Amino acid sequence: MKRLNQSELSAVMAPVEKARGLPNAFYTDPELFELEKKTVFEKNWSCIGFGKDIPKPGDARPVTFAGIPLLTVRDRQGQVRVFQNVCRHRGMKLIEEPTTFKSVIRCPYHSWCYELDGALRSTPHVGGVGRNTHPDIDRDGLGLFEVRSKVWMDVIFVNISGDASEFDDYAGHLMERWSEFDGKQVFHGGPNSSLTFEVKCNWKLAVENFCESYHLPWVHPGLNSYSKLEDHYNIVETNAYSGQGTQVYNPQLDATGRRFADFAGLSSKWDAAAEYIALFPNVQLGVHRDHFFVIHLEPLDVGTTREYIEIYYASEDMCGDAMGDLRAAHAAAWNEVFAEDVFVIEGMQQGRHAPAFDGGKFSPVMDTATHCFHHWVAGRFETG
Ligand code: FES
Ligand SMILES: [Fe+2]
Repeated sequence: MKRLNQSELSAVMAPVEKARGLPNAFYTDPELFELEKKTVFEKNWSCIGFGKDIPKPGDARPVTFAGIPLLTVRDRQGQVRVFQNVCRHRGMKLIEEPTTFKSVIRCPYHSWCYELDGALRSTPHVGGVGRNTHPDIDRDGLGLFEVRSKVWMDVIFVNISGDASEFDDYAGHLMERWSEFDGKQVFHGGPNSSLTFEVKCNWKLAVENFCESYHLPWVHPGLNSYSKLEDHYNIVETNAYSGQGTQVYNPQLDATGRRFADFAGLSSKWDAAAEYIALFPNVQLGVHRDHFFVIHLEPLDVGTTREYIEIYYASEDMCGDAMGDLRAAHAAAWNEVFAEDVFVIEGMQQGRHAPAFDGGKFSPVMDTATHCFHHWVAGRFETG
């Protein structure tokens, strides 16, 4: 990796009128990607999945994030917990596949067993055959390594380094902005409300494309026919999140006029507003009066990203068989929009192998959300 050039970072952090975008290496250099795992993903609050995938006590899933094997589990009290997916004895990986623990988390190697809260409960034959204790095996000090985690709007966030500010500080501005949705229960639409894309681009390009509406007329002509460029506004919260909103959200999915129920108690702002926000680093959220979606970006390598898109509704009634066809039509409509974006994020990735590209020139009006994200990323790498 060529040494990070602080003057290039300063150029990114300049005011938008003067700023350059992040240099090519941020999209193409595998060593910089390794560094990013530490400075961007481990030191901040990153998304690793969704609570709906472990709905009942005992449900567990293995997740690899930034190369680290993790285990998400719902404990007896219904709380989601995240552990490093490793046994304290000889370091065996505890689970390979999603599973439901009946009583304990049992290591498949020598059967040490852990409670769902991570406490080491049993250590068979550890003191010799038939002796399940030994004075030098202090179970109290040998629980699973827990990772700091928080669930918000069903998104599981982790702070691997353990030293980020409190989650409520990190996401507080957004919680405030969306206070009318915050704390409301959301109901996942089931199998027909999950979409997945694997795209040949660095994860940051997916963020950048999501948080701007400038491309709408050319990339999303269908969407643009009823939600035009001039109906959109930029959303910028320095060092926290950025995105865009529309003022003409008016869903029409069914010729008979059926529609999804709204979230309760919303103010009139949300009659026609919808907002799309990237919460840095790797989660993108969309709120509408009648549904909510989340995109979890999983960076696979410097040039490959998996996107998990999950659609949620305001009540359980929206998630039954009676609304199944409407949910499927809804997911298909979103799928079309997200599929339209693939060629631009992959095309930008290819463009970043052009050696003369210098990070680009932002529109001081249309690209403020993208610049906000670049500014945040560059800030994670600043050394002085
Ligand atoms: S490695 Fe887990 S019990 Fe031995
Ligand atoms: Fe788009």
